[in-house]
Amino acid sequence: MPSTGMVAASPLAMVTLEECLRSRRSRRDFCWDPLGVDELRRLCWAGQGVTGPAGLRTAPSAGAIHPLELYVVTPSGISHYDAMRDRLTLLRPGDRRPALCTAAESQDVIGLAPATIVVVAVEGRMEPRYGTRARRYQLIEAGHVAQNVLLAATAMGFCAIPVGALDDLAARDVLELPATHTPLYLVAVGRSSVEPT
Ligand SMILES: Cc1cc2nc3c(=O)[nH]c(=O)nc-3n(C[C@H](O)[C@H](O)[C@H](O)COP(=O)(O)O)c2cc1C
Repeated sequence: MPSTGMVAASPLAMVTLEECLRSRRSRRDFCWDPLGVDELRRLCWAGQGVTGPAGLRTAPSAGAIHPLELYVVTPSGISHYDAMRDRLTLLRPGDRRPALCTAAESQDVIGLAPATIVVVAVEGRMEPRYGTRARRYQLIEAGHVAQNVLLAATAMGFCAIPVGALDDLAARDVLELPATHTPLYLVAVGRSSVEPT
């Protein structure tokens, strides 16, 4: 790995940005097929991959502080995306999708999707510099990250949907995160059950 902390870009499908923007849609037609670790890593890379010196990323961050972390909930368990190493690490085995579904107002889509990427804010990173604006920046940045993931999912031919209806504290419990970590936003992703025409 270069000393800058940059990692090689994960190859995404060869579709133009304009095609991705045109075809991105919130889709719920997931099939049960699990996504592979490399597919999940590529989606996380799109959201938070390191692409520049000093840990600069695919998504912009106020003050280059990067207050967000990505976790992935799959039938295998809960994994964390290590942006600096471009690596997913399984933290807790076991299928937590039903519990995450409950935390997301029992929306079926979270129980059905083979993977949900959870965008989590880490308190204490931004506050020293931005004070009360820190929360605003975390939320704005969660949108940047989620859109990157959604466009990458589109480019990879997956269906995906952002989900904001979430009990933050219940989701924190599901992921067994400390009180400093607040789940903000979900992106459910998977292969489509609908045959392409
Ligand atoms: C901040 C935000 C929160 C959302 N939360 C949910 C949600 O909880 N459940 C859901 O089914 N869709 C959710 N959506 C998806 C919207 O319903 C969807 O974006 C909208 O219908 C427009 O469709 P499109 O994404 O295909 O353009 C959310 C979208 C955004 C931007």
